[in-house]
Amino acid sequence: MDWIESTRRLLEAQRDMGIREFWVRSEAWDPWKVLRREVEGCRKCQLWRSRRKVVFGAGDTEAGIMFVGEAPGEEEDLRGEPFVGAAGELLTRMIRAIRMERREVYIANVLKCRPPGNRDPLPEEIEACKPYLFRQIELVKPKVICALGRIAGGTLLGTSLPLSRLRGKVHFALGTKVVVTFHPAALLRNPGWKRQAWEDMKLLRREYDGLELRR
Ligand code: URA
Repeated sequence: MDWIESTRRLLEAQRDMGIREFWVRSEAWDPWKVLRREVEGCRKCQLWRSRRKVVFGAGDTEAGIMFVGEAPGEEEDLRGEPFVGAAGELLTRMIRAIRMERREVYIANVLKCRPPGNRDPLPEEIEACKPYLFRQIELVKPKVICALGRIAGGTLLGTSLPLSRLRGKVHFALGTKVVVTFHPAALLRNPGWKRQAWEDMKLLRREYDGLELRR
């Protein structure tokens, strides 16, 4: 029996007992609370066994820009917050470079639980977890999404193309513009890529501002 059917039966039984009104606590219907509760109890793949904390997402739930990373690392798994380690520090600087603060954007990952040893997410883990990300996007309704790295870009755009084919342009997916750039952890390993990342961040800001691309 699904929940609609069981609720209907409960209400009918109460009506038969003469109950004519009832109150619903509104937080039970807050879509963010419902989603967070679901994600925090998730066991759809094996990562729940090794996680310390679920990393749901953080920031302004009405943000115009949403950043999407790959998966929590060690620090994020301990604290339950996205991008709080070394890569997170660089992400904060990238956000500031486009004249915004972290609290003004929304930040989430494709995976909500840490893959052991920070290995790449498995395809079945991405499949299991991506509906949560898509629901977050549906709720935030950002003007532009910035996908950080190949995994985030590929998941949002439904492609396995390399990052070099995805970055530097504006895509459209899930009803939103998507700009793909390097993952900050990759930029820490390859500082020479920062110039191209800066071009992507300027493109992101222009799309957010609604300006035409001028090269
Ligand atoms: N890398 C990610 O992709 N996400 C985090 O939250 C931290 C590091």
